[in-house]
Amino acid sequence: MKILIINGPNLNLLGKREISIYGKESFETYLGRLQQQYKEVNIDYYQSNVEGFLIDKLHEAGFSYDGIILNAGAYTHTSIAIADAIAAIETPVVEVHISNVNARESFRSKSVIGASCKGTIQGFGLDSYRLAIEAFI
Ligand code: DQA
Repeated sequence: MKILIINGPNLNLLGKREISIYGKESFETYLGRLQQQYKEVNIDYYQSNVEGFLIDKLHEAGFSYDGIILNAGAYTHTSIAIADAIAAIETPVVEVHISNVNARESFRSKSVIGASCKGTIQGFGLDSYRLAIEAFI
C-alpha cells in the first residue's frame, strides 16, 4: 500500500509552533516513528506552504497512490482550488487535523475541502495521521 501524507502551510514548524496546540514533536520525528510502526505501508511525505504546489502534488500523486492524507492547514478553511483538486483525482483523500478545529475559533469550523474528502480525522494530536493510515488499511 502506498500512502502520501501532504502537509500544508506552517506545518513545517511543528514542534516549534504554538506548542500548547500542536505539541512538541517535529513532523519529521513523528514520521520516522510512523514508518517504523507501519513497515508494510509505503508512507511518503510532502510539505509546502504554497497553495499551488499542494495542488500540483495532489495531481501528481492522485492517480497512483492508494491513499492521500491531507492536512491543508489554514487552506482547509479557504481553498476552493484544493477542494477542486481533491475532487479531480482518483485517489481517496482523508482530511486530517492535529487540533479539534470545532473547539477553536469559529472560522476553523468550516472546511471547504471536507465534502471532497473520503472522511475527516481531527483532534487527536499527531495521532490523527496514524488513525488515517488505519482507515486506509
Ligand atoms: C490545523 C488546523 C487549522 O485550522 C490550522 O490553520 C492549521 C493546522 C490542524 O492540524 O489542527 O494550520 O490544520
